Amino acid sequence: MTEQALPFGEKYYPAIKKLMEIRRRSLEDPISFWDEKARELIWFRYWDKVLDDSNPPFFKWFVGGVTNITVNALDKWMKTDVKNKVAYYWEGEPGDRRVISYADLYREVNRMAKVLREDLGVKPDDRVVIYMPMIPELPVALLATARIGGIHSVVFSGFSPKALADRIVDAKAKVLITADGYYRRGKVINLKRNADEGVRIAAEQGVEVEKVLVVRRGGLDLDVEMKEGRDFFYDELAKKIPDNVYVPPEPRKSEDVLFILYSSGTTGKPKGIMHSVGGYMVWVYWSFKWTWDPRPDDIMWTLADIGWITGHTYIVYAPLMHGMTNVMYEGAPDYPAPDRVWEMVERYRVTIFYTSPTAIRLFRKYGDEWVKKHDLSSIRLLGSVGEPINPDVWKWYYEVIGRGETPIVDTWWQTETGAAMIAPAPGIALVPLKPGSATFPLPGVDADVFNDRGEPAKPGEKGYIVIKKPWPGMLIGLWGDPQRYIRTYWQRFSKPDQGVWIYYPADYAVKDEDGYFWLLGRADEVLNVAGHRLGTTEIEDAILHHPAVAEAAVVGIPDPVKGEVPLAVVVLREGYRPSRELEEEIKKVVREVLSPIAVPARVLFVNKLPKTRSGKIMRRLIKAVATGAPLGDVSTLEDEASVEEIKRAWEEFKRAIEESERILRGEA
Ligand code: WTA
Repeated sequence: MTEQALPFGEKYYPAIKKLMEIRRRSLEDPISFWDEKARELIWFRYWDKVLDDSNPPFFKWFVGGVTNITVNALDKWMKTDVKNKVAYYWEGEPGDRRVISYADLYREVNRMAKVLREDLGVKPDDRVVIYMPMIPELPVALLATARIGGIHSVVFSGFSPKALADRIVDAKAKVLITADGYYRRGKVINLKRNADEGVRIAAEQGVEVEKVLVVRRGGLDLDVEMKEGRDFFYDELAKKIPDNVYVPPEPRKSEDVLFILYSSGTTGKPKGIMHSVGGYMVWVYWSFKWTWDPRPDDIMWTLADIGWITGHTYIVYAPLMHGMTNVMYEGAPDYPAPDRVWEMVERYRVTIFYTSPTAIRLFRKYGDEWVKKHDLSSIRLLGSVGEPINPDVWKWYYEVIGRGETPIVDTWWQTETGAAMIAPAPGIALVPLKPGSATFPLPGVDADVFNDRGEPAKPGEKGYIVIKKPWPGMLIGLWGDPQRYIRTYWQRFSKPDQGVWIYYPADYAVKDEDGYFWLLGRADEVLNVAGHRLGTTEIEDAILHHPAVAEAAVVGIPDPVKGEVPLAVVVLREGYRPSRELEEEIKKVVREVLSPIAVPARVLFVNKLPKTRSGKIMRRLIKAVATGAPLGDVSTLEDEASVEEIKRAWEEFKRAIEESERILRGEA
């Protein structure tokens, strides 16, 4: 980008210049750049090599280095004032509160580490699945596992037993940490029951979880079944352990796996995304520093669940490595009233508030009065993550929550990238913002936009975001499936014979005349529902669990709050007729098999799905018909079909939908 092209006032040039200068240095000589940056963290042994790129795309960072992330998140504070600082202000949905200092957290992590190692037999590299609500023992569980060198795999507590079982089986997990239950919208959810069911299904598939650790949330009146010899209440094991117990941090190689986090892909099977001990640690530490400009008196609230990457990085690892105070909340953001969150921001004097466009749209829907009731003047930075943020929502966030003076830090990244990749960097220099643009890549991130042919797209031309150099926080592979790792992320634009390796995130993007990046959503068959990634195939597979369903196709359609919601088109088996009841039953199956997030907004019934000659479902056609879009330019609609074919399929499909709707209204 050229400075002359910038439409902003003179005073901004220094900010952009400063950012570009650091970026240039980081990209011209990444080895010395990262060598210097990584030394700000504590290592038991420094690396022999910053980057081993001898076996691409399996890049290894800080090879020969040995560390443990919990030393950087906890131990290092024990000889400083941070020890007595609050690590978490926790609030349960009913309003119960806990305040946890760094010293408390340290004690609890050591204690759980001891229990995991000695009572449950967790050894380095064992997989520990964590299926817990948003209670303080959740970050404790991640850290305790990491401390003894286990590999954690957190499964979102809203996921179904089947989804839990799939993840247990894929990772061959030995231990499960769960809780008795939690509050959601005023109701007590019995999580242990789901956990038991998940463990049972996993056992049927040949993976026996040996031990289950159950944390009591407290204040619940729940009857929890415990299986003798397998299930243990955490408090009962912990009370035998002295307060000052010290579990030495397990020395971990930099390239060892810190955690696995499953995310949806384009097939029915979720991908076990692996992050490394050293690379992830260095990257999230720096990315956080640049993105949030952390200060000693900050109170950070990342309104997300630790079941997703945002919570891993921005509620647990990065803020703790910076000695930040965090707010953590158990329940629904609009319970018991739409101003729950603003009330908490006011009470805790939150300075950095970070959430998803879906949550922001929900707050906006409730109206400004709920916001105006509270003093939000403590906020100095607002963040957004998970989906593209529409400019009008951006402006509402800026005007109403940010009082027209708080910068919006729109952060583009993915589970795979570990932490923010493209984001305004107030920790370096705040560049002028454009509503809806995540602005520029951070240092170390060699991002660009490519067209279909793999050439850099022209300014304003829509293409695909790509990352042209490895960075420390990159995923190190997919658990048990190296081929899928290569296929999914590296095949599209790399030229192995020329030694060119290009990471492909599968997002559309545009770079404008000023060099600003605009991220435009997924370019693959992955939906983004309320900021959660869901594979179309995954939902289709769930729908097929219903005995009446012969075939199913799922597409995403726009939704004013959730961004996108699934819409299902279903072909029934012989002997079944479309009905509202059947529609509800199918939705219920999806809720049970997958998750409430995945439930289709509508189920439409047809006799035949529109397909290409080669049998590929014409998803874009379905989407266009469902959203009432005109047929328009069909040549770009489906890659493999002829114009005639599409026109015919379009007409047939429209008629089929109308027919089915008539039946449902009882007119046929
Ligand atoms: C989308 C969440 C536009 C994108 C951290 C990406 C975004 C997917 C943004 C990853 C943003 C995330 N603007 N789109 N600021 N942030 N996305 O793995 O499509 O749950 O590929 O990671 O969310 O979702 P994931």
